[in-house]
Amino acid sequence: MIEMIKVGRTYDPDITALSDISFSVETGEMFFLIGRSGAGKTTLLKLICNMETPSNGLIEVAGYNINKLKGKDLAHLRQRIGVAYQDFKLLNDRTVAENIAISMEVSYKKPRAIKNRVRELLDQLQLVDKHDTLTGELSRGEQQRVALARAVANSPRLILVDEPTGNLDASTTKQVMELLTRSNKAGATIVIATHDESIYQQSNHRIMELSNGRISSLTRGGKA
Ligand SMILES: Nc1ncnc2c1ncn2[C@@H]1O[C@H](COP(=O)(O)OP(=O)(O)OP(=O)(O)O)[C@@H](O)[C@H]1O
Ligand SMILES: [Mg+2]
Repeated sequence: MIEMIKVGRTYDPDITALSDISFSVETGEMFFLIGRSGAGKTTLLKLICNMETPSNGLIEVAGYNINKLKGKDLAHLRQRIGVAYQDFKLLNDRTVAENIAISMEVSYKKPRAIKNRVRELLDQLQLVDKHDTLTGELSRGEQQRVALARAVANSPRLILVDEPTGNLDASTTKQVMELLTRSNKAGATIVIATHDESIYQQSNHRIMELSNGRISSLTRGGKA
């Protein structure tokens, strides 16, 4: 689903956010990205969804060189990637339901299907009573879950989540991971950037650690 070959990203004047990154993520995998603050996790996720362009190297997503795609082809691929950003990027003057519905509306899903899916996600994330609340009025932990619901709503093939449990307590973290696991079991490939050891240590998923913009280890969670 994802292949990177010798990818680097530098920012002016001389910040090297990522260098010499080569790895791949298989279709259907749940893959964790860890590393200290500033290690390059968010930059890597943004490269995968074409929010950022690499300074060098090759990035393929679902078999396409994502930096060569243009117009309709790029829009089509982007529609199949759901992203939950570290800073959420919600539309704060719209309701929770409207925010979650966006990706489904863009791909012309039927109003009834959208309504049902929004209800289902709010139910899974214990946000049913926030359906009509403006997202700007929510707590950070609630906004974080709305961002996640929006990312998974349209059942994308690839889901990128940046720090999905940073503002959550243990039981809400569990609900978030259950939702992601459900999407993964339904066939989605998922990449999760996180500082939260509790969500990957007890799994057998692959874990890639970044350190100063380079891959420092590629291991598997401790569960046999
Ligand atoms: N737009 C930008 N302009 C300049 N430097 C940037 C930009 N985006 C990221 N960087 C730098 O690149 C490095 C990697 O940042 P990145 O946000 O990818 O780290 P991170 O691993 O996600 O950190 P955190 O755990 O704090 O979210 C940092 O040194 C950061 O300051
Ligand atoms: Mg980050």
